[in-house]
Amino acid sequence: RGGVERLMLLAMLLGTASAANESLSLGNIVADLPERYDETQLWRIHNISDAMRQYMPVGQLMEQKFGGNIWKENSKFLDISIGKEHLKAARNFLDAHHLEPQILADNVQSLIDEELLDGVQATSSLPGTRTKKASRSGSGMHWKDYHDLDTIYAFMREVRAKYPNIVRLYTIGQTAEGRDLKVLRISENPREYKKVWIDGGIHAREWISPATVTFILFQLMHNWENQPAHIRGLTWYIMPMMNPDGYEYSRTVNRLWRKNRSGPRRADCYGVDLNRNFDIGWNGFGSSKDPCSDVFRGTSAASELETQAVADFLAKRKYNLEAYLTYHSYGQLVVYPWAYKAVKVRDAAVLQRVASTAVERIAQKTGSTYRASVTHEVLGIAGGGSDDWSRDALGVKYVYTVELRDRGTYGFVLPPKFIKDTALEGWTVAETVAQSIG
Ligand code: ARG
Ligand code: ZN
Repeated sequence: RGGVERLMLLAMLLGTASAANESLSLGNIVADLPERYDETQLWRIHNISDAMRQYMPVGQLMEQKFGGNIWKENSKFLDISIGKEHLKAARNFLDAHHLEPQILADNVQSLIDEELLDGVQATSSLPGTRTKKASRSGSGMHWKDYHDLDTIYAFMREVRAKYPNIVRLYTIGQTAEGRDLKVLRISENPREYKKVWIDGGIHAREWISPATVTFILFQLMHNWENQPAHIRGLTWYIMPMMNPDGYEYSRTVNRLWRKNRSGPRRADCYGVDLNRNFDIGWNGFGSSKDPCSDVFRGTSAASELETQAVADFLAKRKYNLEAYLTYHSYGQLVVYPWAYKAVKVRDAAVLQRVASTAVERIAQKTGSTYRASVTHEVLGIAGGGSDDWSRDALGVKYVYTVELRDRGTYGFVLPPKFIKDTALEGWTVAETVAQSIG
């Protein structure tokens, strides 16, 4: 298996040409070659008028028309990557609407190659490969590079083995492709204390998210005895990877994959956007009923195994559940409900204050600028999100979606050298929220 992975990465680096979804036979192993993004451009489009948005978010429109890949769509701009063969038509389309794209990157593939090389240099001497280097910790976990699912799950088992008295490991369900969904619980007391939930990896390509959530786990545990009372007094539920199928697919086949891998529902269209699948404002604005769309909401609310597993697990534990933190990328934001409607939540003032405190601390620690705000104001309206659902269905008070680094230089393809500082920023939010719960 390691050999196949190495080969695929090598092929990626050497620039082996491949058509999308073409298969390569390796003896009895059939592996998809990674999808390439040679000369795919990443555009930022400003000044999109409300008139243009009225019918459908422009990203979704350009996704349909030009096979574009939406990276980020908010009230100020749209980041979208367009394949070489559609560049001209997409340009013309924008021209017709008097829009001019700012070119963030003129070759997405070179971003991907750079990300891979950076990790290689940080972790191994074997050129062109990401090796699993055994380290002092048995799982081989570190934050100099991104890891496969096996390593992340091995790390979770390792944490449990090291602190058997306070840590439990749950398998809360399986995915469409049969992978386990795992949650760690950290608590000093078998009785229920105030609880905090943290998840990552809802969206496959946002690799910094699971990297950050595993780092939060590490921060909590490696120094547990010396943690302040407001941290030790909580029960922590941590799920670093809500979408393991999508994540593995983004590592081996398509670096820009977002959804899970259920289906197909139509010829060759797989996956549901898990953050549009929760049972809150599910049928509303900001998601798509088209199974081929990147923001496909699913065939019904909570149609997906991942959504069901998390929703069922949390519904049973909603008593004293004080915080729901979910990590995404990118944009450097700390946002709170609502997202599915342009209305402020009841505790908006408190949520804004705590988010602002976190943002100030981040600036002190790493120098990064994050912004604290209401979700619909900065990201536009979108239904079906896990954040809104946790507030609406469970009554959680401190609900935050954290959009980690960066602000569009690398986007999802954040080089590994930024993992540690970014993860520290994510930890700072968790720490600040824990302190606020008191
Ligand atoms: N980037 C995230 C997404 O598109 C933002 C989530 C904000 N919350 C929401 N319910 N839309 O899923
Ligand atoms: Zn996301």
